[in-house]
Amino acid sequence: MIVLGINAYHGDASAAILVDGELVAAVEEERFTRVKHTAGFPAHAVRYCLQAAGVTIQEVDHIAIPRNPRARLVQKLLYAVKLPRFALERVRVLGRFGRIKEALAQALEVDPKAIKATFHRVEHHLAHLASSFFVSPFERAGVLSLDGLGDFASGMWGIGEGNRITVWGSVPFPHSVGMYYTAVTQFLGFWKYGDEYKVMGLSAYGEPEFLEEFRQMLQVKDGMGYEMDLRYFRHHTDGPTMTWEAGEPQLGQLFSDEFVRRFGDPHPPRTPVGRREENLAASLQARLEEVVLHQINALYRLVAERTKQPTNALAYAGGVAFNCVANGKIFDATPFEHLYIQPAAGDAGLAIGAAFYVWHQVLGYPRKFVMEHAYWGPEFSDADIRRALERHGLAYRQLDRETLVRETAQRIAQGKVVGWFQGRMEWGPRALGNRSIVVDPRRPEMKDILNKRVKHREPFRPFAPSVLEEYTGEYYQHSYPSPFMLLAYKVRPEKRDEIPAPTHVDGTGRLQTVNKETNPLYWQLIDEFRQLTGVPIVLNTSFNENEPIVCTPDEAIDCFLRTHMDVLAIGSFLVERA
Ligand SMILES: [Fe+2]
Repeated sequence: MIVLGINAYHGDASAAILVDGELVAAVEEERFTRVKHTAGFPAHAVRYCLQAAGVTIQEVDHIAIPRNPRARLVQKLLYAVKLPRFALERVRVLGRFGRIKEALAQALEVDPKAIKATFHRVEHHLAHLASSFFVSPFERAGVLSLDGLGDFASGMWGIGEGNRITVWGSVPFPHSVGMYYTAVTQFLGFWKYGDEYKVMGLSAYGEPEFLEEFRQMLQVKDGMGYEMDLRYFRHHTDGPTMTWEAGEPQLGQLFSDEFVRRFGDPHPPRTPVGRREENLAASLQARLEEVVLHQINALYRLVAERTKQPTNALAYAGGVAFNCVANGKIFDATPFEHLYIQPAAGDAGLAIGAAFYVWHQVLGYPRKFVMEHAYWGPEFSDADIRRALERHGLAYRQLDRETLVRETAQRIAQGKVVGWFQGRMEWGPRALGNRSIVVDPRRPEMKDILNKRVKHREPFRPFAPSVLEEYTGEYYQHSYPSPFMLLAYKVRPEKRDEIPAPTHVDGTGRLQTVNKETNPLYWQLIDEFRQLTGVPIVLNTSFNENEPIVCTPDEAIDCFLRTHMDVLAIGSFLVERA
């Protein structure tokens, strides 16, 4: 039985495919179009998923679409009366979704009649909840989704038990914890879709000087739920529209004139930030953490009250679940002891969520799959890689695995910038050791070297560590695994001087814990580095330069040549710059 999940006409378009209830492939469309967060129809991603599963579209039994234009129809209609522009947008959305079968047929160059699959619509937040709970290791868990907006809501919660999710509540438009964060992100001069994580990095430099104002801006109730002070925002008057130019999604301005009256002029893009911006970011982040942790605590109590049986497991999803600084505080600030966040926690993950929702909750099959790693994308053989190296006229050595790992670890320890391209590409926005740039974490200068030569990032943004899972507690104040780089922990004070490069100004690291079973080659590389240096950690940043993470060997080689990396370890080949 084949289930295909398609997240279309939304930011982070993506596709995922299940064969008999097991995930076989999942990938974001941006990796093929080379435009970050590509919206529209994910034609390439669908083609890849079918090919990875070895099936044609004619053999697909069910197609799951994570959007239900009929969800909250009454609220939408009431809103449309107040704002005619919004009504027009709804008509456009309904039109696009009505033609999804045709779009699919066109992308695959088949007759629409050849597609025999049953189409299912899964509400946006239900797909978020499913994307986490149904692939988590938990038999029972509190489930929570928080994001900007999807199907006219910004949050949803309930309980997951076996192959069922029961929804207990949601927060309807216009109140949104994600929009709150994005509005201030725009005000601070970051207008690109997905720029929120830059502001999260910036927040560590400031003091929450404006916390009282931000508490007014985003309020919580006794139980679950939150409300915005709408005077500071304008999405409710302008309509929550998103456009995409050449595939790249863009949101209109979300902060209001009132916001400007209170905090002054917005910060101009691409100019250095000052104390006001740092303190605004710190206040924004501090309030986000209060609200998120309040929701999570309230959910814990709700599960206990409603079911008389508490759970210490939380399955969490939605764009807000990318806030690893808030996530890292869950264990200290709430009773939850187990946490699962899927690597594509944002809207790309909807493709997986919708597919598993159909498999379990619509078709009724029992649980059996757990997503233990993020390697669900394209891979390339050594023959493919060799041809790419030869096309570029690069000198290379082909090495056995032991030698490749040993020599690469030596180069890292020598302070070289190493491109590491191995196996299947990661699902989700973080490079997790298959499409990574890896450097020595002991050298404080590595951050500047990476920024100057490869990444060209704002200087306030941190770099992340990959740590052997076994050593997590020795270096960080928590040891709960963080396989998808979605938790920030404090570095133990006595270890800070040992790993300055991937330690942020506030003494935290947004770490990836590397497991010997789920990525043996990357584990071996870091372990080799540990044997050379005594440090079981490398600095890991995504293999790209202001573009989506590289997917193919050609893209990796182009990036290696364009930027000034020293070494490229690609498949079983080692390339060194003279
Ligand atoms: Fe979402």
